[in-house]
Amino acid sequence: MAAQASTANNRGHLEPFACAMTQAPLTRAHCEALDAQDPLAGCRDRFTLPAGVIYLDGNSLGALPRCVPERMRQAVEQEWGVGLIRSWNDAGWYPAPQRVGARVAQLVGAQGHEVIMADSTSINLFKLLVAALRMRPGRSLIVGEVGNFPTDAYVAEGVAELTGARFEAVAPQEVMAALNEQVAVLSLTHVNYKTGRVYDMAAITQRAHEVGALVIWDLAHTAGALQCDLNGCDADFAVGCGYKYLNGGPGAPAFAFVAQRHHAWLRQPLTGWHGHAQPFAFDQGYRPAPGMDQLLVGTASQLGLIALESALTAFDGVDMAALRRKSLSLSDLFIRLVDEQVPGFGLATPREPDLRGSQVSLTHEQGYAIVQALIARGIIGDFRAPDILRFGFAALYVRHVDIWDAVAALKDIMGTREWARPEFMAKKAVT
Ligand SMILES: Cc1ncc(COP(=O)(O)O)c(C=O)c1O
Repeated sequence: MAAQASTANNRGHLEPFACAMTQAPLTRAHCEALDAQDPLAGCRDRFTLPAGVIYLDGNSLGALPRCVPERMRQAVEQEWGVGLIRSWNDAGWYPAPQRVGARVAQLVGAQGHEVIMADSTSINLFKLLVAALRMRPGRSLIVGEVGNFPTDAYVAEGVAELTGARFEAVAPQEVMAALNEQVAVLSLTHVNYKTGRVYDMAAITQRAHEVGALVIWDLAHTAGALQCDLNGCDADFAVGCGYKYLNGGPGAPAFAFVAQRHHAWLRQPLTGWHGHAQPFAFDQGYRPAPGMDQLLVGTASQLGLIALESALTAFDGVDMAALRRKSLSLSDLFIRLVDEQVPGFGLATPREPDLRGSQVSLTHEQGYAIVQALIARGIIGDFRAPDILRFGFAALYVRHVDIWDAVAALKDIMGTREWARPEFMAKKAVT
């Protein structure tokens, strides 16, 4: 496979898995042996995975943690059904955005009071972009990246139009060079949604600070997937999704991070009543709540928060360094098996482990149909236009044998041209 050039740095340590990787052609038994020595193997039981499915799409919608249905049943039947409005006080509903945020904070290297759950990633990005611009009066340039997830660019364009700022997207390898004294805010996604390439958060943040700019990191494909040390990198702001590697369910609430040193200057633009200093005083004028509470807007999506909070227990006791090691072992294995067994694909993801998130993206002009053929066999990845076959490896529940079986199916689908069947060519609304 031909790998595309990449930038970034995020060193992970590969032992013990990579050391166990033999130079001889791999076998399924070898993959079984890797699973047998996996310290996270027991975590798979924390999830409900349908029989016959190999789920390689945790980067779009995480699998269902086993504990969530019972917790939701209790929330709906007891807390909502019996407790009714009293549950805002009695069932811990009201402080849930802060409480769940504190749990997410542990996964992204933040202090508990620096993270809050609210709204969607797109909306949190809007709030933080405007807040960051307000912290840099006299500067009006927002720098983003070409190839970022569209919402990041769309929101930056909207903010620029609203505030009179200018938005400029530069190529990923030009980000460092684009940083100068005119830049108010740099807005980047840590792990690229298409390629899986990882930026060097520490180095970029440091350079941005040297020129007086602030940085917003989108952690949609980072949180729960790899180690992240926001405070260790001196990060300013971050946002991220609850429904991907955090397994919070479809449309789960998103999170926002603001470093404590910025709390005193935080002024976000969506001045709703839940971000007020005293929501239940029903004052006529807006007074922002101190700290992260200000990022709340309207009534929190309580059932979504309850599902996410329950789902996050799947990370209890999990060493994120071990999770990263396993994730890299899975993606190394996938790349090697495709190299060895299935010619004809390009590789959009960096081969260097340090530069790779928790996914592998192949390229092929028939990518859409090939993904549909895989899904028909229960091997679920996704397609990103124009030609990317994207496979996410959620290390809590994906095994090495799953990678072996997925590549074996891919080999068969390519060898028999199964992908060319008409039903695999018809485009669906969600890819
Ligand atoms: C990098 C990135 N940012 C943001 C989003 C969208 O977030 P939301 O739908 O919560 O606004 C996605 C969705 O896939 C994404 O990949």
